[in-house]
Amino acid sequence: PFKQRLLVVANRLPVSAIRRGEESWSLEISAGGLVSALLGVRDVDAKWIGWAGVNVPDEVGQKALTKALATKRCIPVFLDEEIVHQYYNGYCNNILWPLFHYLGLPQEDRLATTRSFQSQFDAYKRANQMFADVVSQHYEEGDVIWCHDYHLMFLPKCLKEHDRNMKVGWFLHTPFPSSEIHRTLPSRSELLRSVLAADLVGFHTYDYARHFVSACTRILGLEGTPEGVEDQGKMTRVAAFPIGIDSDRFRRALELPTVKERICELKKRFAGRKVMLGVDRLDMIKGIPQKILAFEKFLEENPSWHDKVVLLQIAVPTRTDVPEYQKLTSQVHEIVGRINGRFGTLTGVPLLHLDRSLDFHALCALYAVTDVALVTSLRDGMNLVSYEFVACQNAKKGVLILSEFAGAAQSLGAGALLVNPWNITEVANSIFTALTMHPDEREKRHRHNFAHVTTHTAQEWAQTFVSELNDTVVEAQIRT
Ligand code: UDP
Ligand code: G6P
Repeated sequence: PFKQRLLVVANRLPVSAIRRGEESWSLEISAGGLVSALLGVRDVDAKWIGWAGVNVPDEVGQKALTKALATKRCIPVFLDEEIVHQYYNGYCNNILWPLFHYLGLPQEDRLATTRSFQSQFDAYKRANQMFADVVSQHYEEGDVIWCHDYHLMFLPKCLKEHDRNMKVGWFLHTPFPSSEIHRTLPSRSELLRSVLAADLVGFHTYDYARHFVSACTRILGLEGTPEGVEDQGKMTRVAAFPIGIDSDRFRRALELPTVKERICELKKRFAGRKVMLGVDRLDMIKGIPQKILAFEKFLEENPSWHDKVVLLQIAVPTRTDVPEYQKLTSQVHEIVGRINGRFGTLTGVPLLHLDRSLDFHALCALYAVTDVALVTSLRDGMNLVSYEFVACQNAKKGVLILSEFAGAAQSLGAGALLVNPWNITEVANSIFTALTMHPDEREKRHRHNFAHVTTHTAQEWAQTFVSELNDTVVEAQIRT
């Protein structure tokens, strides 16, 4: 049977490379929601194009890495140190990322950032062109090209300039902010126009899609329709495609003897205590300081709980070359130290904070033994950690405390306890409610969320996007 080829283009490949010798590389699974979701997509003939997370200046190394990546169906884009500095650390993660999450520019370097803006934007465009060049080398007629995330907003335009018959989709994994925020970007119009070169533009939620359309109407003066955005007869379809996870993968993992063993060990280790869990990249959008301060308030107000609860925070190191992330790390460490100093005893501390990543099986075991999961994102495109927790809770039926500012609040809102993470009193009260909730209510809430997580999968998300992209192209051909 005919199977359409799919080229998935994202800044981050699903595996990151570590150099072991001149020609030897080892590959590790990359962290983050984009990679998790795309790994959950099965049964498609997909190839990946992206950056392997390392600088490879020599040709010998590049050849060897290209070969190693080919076994994972991955094709590398090589970015040198200067480009990574200006494009990835600079424009992507110091400008677009905070802005799309309503955090504004980092206070102290606001002027410095403003000054370096143009050179970083130029590097961004150059980097996007480098991705486009690799795509063109591997493109065959009929392929579908699916571009991902804020790193590659310029890519649709580069691709269409190369060959206007390419089928191009673009999906954003972060929120798209109100047009009032987007307006402040010096490159606001250029970015919108290049995204509009795609045939289909997708977002996690209807709100993000609406913000994008109104940015196009207000900033570019184009016409917004229920279908998308129209520019002189050319239609770009804009729609919401909420992402999901491969919930079966979690269910299967929980059946494995090694995972069952880990669950037993964890239960022993935390016997007599309720386990609260946070799993986040150590990113300012995750509201980790807010979460820990709320936990402190809960301890302050509930002395009887002091030796009966532990908060386990897995903080996965991320973007460590960006100064704002370095500052966050030391800020979090300071608060953790203070709280453990204040509430710890000779036999234990209430907060276990780990600056590390976990392998998949360890993560599943942790999710399974957790009584209360705490997701306090200040803004978050979707937040897959909340989905993964629910998928692993069929035995325990624990409680999810979830920020109303995560995209997931729109799908798991009825089963979770929704909170405003800026309101520490509210979060502290929710912790109490969650820890003392009646089992019947826990069960009812869990059942609601579990039904959602198991029926709205990553697989279905990808299929829907790709078939919508194919349909959109056919419709456009009929119209012209
Ligand atoms: N994750 C990971 N390594 C870890 C812990 C978690 O890769 O050590 C995964 C986690 O399972 C989830 C993803 O990282 O799938 C985080 O996705 P989410 O949407 O919650 O947030 P993002 O990191 O994309 O902002
Ligand atoms: C978020 C972004 C992804 C990114 C991930 C990890 O999920 O939407 O595009 O891959 O964070 O961040 P990193 O900078 O390490 O790729």
